[in-house]
Amino acid sequence: MNEKLMEIQESALKALKSAADLGALDEVRVRFLGKKGEITAVLRTMGQLPPEERPSFGQAANQVRSFIEDEIRTASQEMERKKMELRLSSEAIDVTIPGKAPEFGHAHPLSKVTDEVKDIFIGMGFTVAEGPEVELSDYDFTRLNIPEGHTVREWTDTFYITEDERVHLRCQTSPVQIRVMEKQQPPIRVISPGRVYRKDEVDATHSPMFHQMEGLVVDKGITMGDLKGTLNALVHKLYGDDLKTRFRPHHFPFTEPSCEMDVQCFVCKGKGCRVCKGEGWVEVLGAGMVHPKVLEGCGIDPREYSGFAFGLGLDRLTMLRYDINDLRLLFENDQRFISQF
Ligand code: PHE
Repeated sequence: MNEKLMEIQESALKALKSAADLGALDEVRVRFLGKKGEITAVLRTMGQLPPEERPSFGQAANQVRSFIEDEIRTASQEMERKKMELRLSSEAIDVTIPGKAPEFGHAHPLSKVTDEVKDIFIGMGFTVAEGPEVELSDYDFTRLNIPEGHTVREWTDTFYITEDERVHLRCQTSPVQIRVMEKQQPPIRVISPGRVYRKDEVDATHSPMFHQMEGLVVDKGITMGDLKGTLNALVHKLYGDDLKTRFRPHHFPFTEPSCEMDVQCFVCKGKGCRVCKGEGWVEVLGAGMVHPKVLEGCGIDPREYSGFAFGLGLDRLTMLRYDINDLRLLFENDQRFISQF
């Protein structure tokens, strides 16, 4: 009978060798060690043996059983290990692959120039005042001495919000002057950058939305000399001390006298080039002494106080600064363009 046990052990080892997965291993376990398995079957025949042989046979049978059990356990551990190994290698992360570099944001050229101009004025003691883009026509027109019937008040020029023409998208930053003077008595020294809107067709130099910066100074004894000195300081800080400016007479309803300021072209220094269209000068802003009527309308006595105001085009200044030849580029937000500055 020991022979029979040896046979069982052999065939169990063989079956284990060809078992390909944990399922097959379990089949081997059932076949040899199960209730209806081969070892159990052999033990059942023990009764046919002479009593004195039974203990040693039983011992041998148990040895074979635990031998097969051990083999099955070893094989299944080996299978688990291989399975884990396979999983680890297939799910492995290659930490040596180069990562994706994060893209850094970039200040828009318009923001850069705006900040630069703001810093210059803040350095001269100005503070920044803000006003709404949806503005009362009263502030943008009437109180700025722009009378009924003025062309700027036409529906073809201005984006009205209400039928009664009382609210519109501001067409200049000048209403901020009124908002400041209404709240504050002189001395006043403010700048106000922001968006403005006009019904213009889009082309290389026009956009229905663009950016201005207003400036307002009101105090005792303010003169045209202060206006010129302040604006010259701005130009010299922006473009260098050697650059000349010139002031041409002009008309604005809310300043008297009014002027426009030209700056000697900073590309050709006045000789004439593509940037200044051969003129040697480029126009950068409108300005003037605050009209007495405007001061009075805000409760500031024009016999005691005087002031100057100016409005400069930030988009234009940006285009000149970086030699950009199409206004549309500033608003398209194409990274390839913006990241050049
Ligand atoms: N608001 C004027 C414009 O848009 C510019 C300006 C501002 C002129 C302040 C004089 C004083 O053209």
